[in-house]
Amino acid sequence: MDASDVKINIIGAGLAGLSAAKTLAQSGVHVRLISYQHSERAQSNLAEGGINAVMNVMGENDRIEYHFQDTGKGGCFLADPEMVRGLTQAAPGIVSELADLGVPFHREKGRLIQRNFGGQKLKRTAYARSSTGKVLVSAMIDAVRRYEAEGFVERFAHHTFERLLFENGRLAGARIYDRFRKEEFDCRGPVIMACGGMNGMFEGATTGTLANTGQAAAVLFSQGVRFGNLEFLQYHPTTVEISGKRLLISEAARGEGGRLFCMKNGARCYFMEEKYGERGNLMPRDVISREMALLNEQAYLDLTVLDRATWEKKLSDLREEVIHYLGIDPAAEPVPVSPGIHYFMGGILVDRDHRTNIPWLYAAGECACAYHGANRLGGNSLLGAIYGGKRAAESLAAAIHEVGSGEIPADGTVSVAAAARAAETGDENVVHARMVRALLKGMEPLRTEERMREALEEVISLKAPDQPETMKASLLLAEAILRCGLERKETRGAHTRLDYPKTDENWRKTTVAQMTDGRIGITYEKIAPYPAP
Ligand code: FUM
Repeated sequence: MDASDVKINIIGAGLAGLSAAKTLAQSGVHVRLISYQHSERAQSNLAEGGINAVMNVMGENDRIEYHFQDTGKGGCFLADPEMVRGLTQAAPGIVSELADLGVPFHREKGRLIQRNFGGQKLKRTAYARSSTGKVLVSAMIDAVRRYEAEGFVERFAHHTFERLLFENGRLAGARIYDRFRKEEFDCRGPVIMACGGMNGMFEGATTGTLANTGQAAAVLFSQGVRFGNLEFLQYHPTTVEISGKRLLISEAARGEGGRLFCMKNGARCYFMEEKYGERGNLMPRDVISREMALLNEQAYLDLTVLDRATWEKKLSDLREEVIHYLGIDPAAEPVPVSPGIHYFMGGILVDRDHRTNIPWLYAAGECACAYHGANRLGGNSLLGAIYGGKRAAESLAAAIHEVGSGEIPADGTVSVAAAARAAETGDENVVHARMVRALLKGMEPLRTEERMREALEEVISLKAPDQPETMKASLLLAEAILRCGLERKETRGAHTRLDYPKTDENWRKTTVAQMTDGRIGITYEKIAPYPAP
């Protein structure tokens, strides 16, 4: 099959989408890069602390094997070990390539410097102050621009994904909506979803952009796409409420020496260090967030211990942001912090080739359930997005070369009469707000059967036959998230059950949620064993 006859629809233009577009274009496959906003505004830009890879520049004898072990253990062994192996093996090549693309990673006397990050004993995180996401996206935009000029990549940068298209039961493409011209298009061909996390479903409690509404995930779920591990929402320990969302105080601040404490009997209690020793402040996020939720006290992040050079060279932007949004100079006084939703380990379930359960539908980046198991390590998300996008593109390109043209969803862009779009009504806003509240109550950092059940009943009570399809889809996905939480009767990673406080080896399996015959079904899939360290 000649690749020039095919066009791939990539939904999402953050790092995963850019990486997929670059890889496909490099192999001569044409793509449409479809996103709600331009790449410069994608969630990937908000990633702060860095990207993990064993570059072995810090004299610590780091090994890829250790990165593999840390990632597997950090995820409580709920990610497929072969996938984690691939991710960690590819990491050094990815960081080198990014450096070649001009990413200004922190260097001293020309030597790349890496920093400490949570859940890793060695300095493995390459960074650019605390704006790593921004500089990575900007380099990848540049790399893709060349292929835009050559006609391999066509941008649709103010377009919303509406739904998958099927013909005779087979994927035919994606319907998208041009929100400026108010037109709908059917974009035919295979689809790679790279649409990010479901932040909008947790509005007010997340560090992520609310442009990632979760609507694409909800529609896919309602269309029968299988989702994995929906109960695993990552709470980042150091966030602060600002209007409508949460401000992230990067883990980099603790990587550089920041300490968490609370007040006990009028004195500071460094609760993480007391319980976990010297590296307490750099325990994985699930562990720290759990401890903070159990504290019942306000926690503070003390960064006054950092020296001037660290602030100036490594964290100047973090300091500016905290001063700007909170009116607190973190170099001078501790910042009150609490856990906020930061990342979705669960999402569209993919196999080792990033294929979903629907032939010619692939997924990568935060929208996919792939590498992070029950808890993602900081610094592995930028890596997972770039590597995942690349892997999805490579396996899709290979599939195209392998099969006859009749097998592949044909190319074409067809304008369709836009269905009248009702403006969002007050009623829908109320339903959305109640759904968010129910989800936050059920999926709080410390969970119980009772709270999740109450939340589930609330979500079910919000359903009404005359609702728009998108609202119905969101409520279905919310229901699935809560059902997955209820079903997993153990504590593992980001899923802490007060009523099942132990990790149970029998539960080391992937939760799979899928709509079949109008009902949410939950099943489980085995995970291959991890090799002994
Ligand atoms: O804290 C942070 O800088 C976040 C990084 C990440 O989620 O990878």
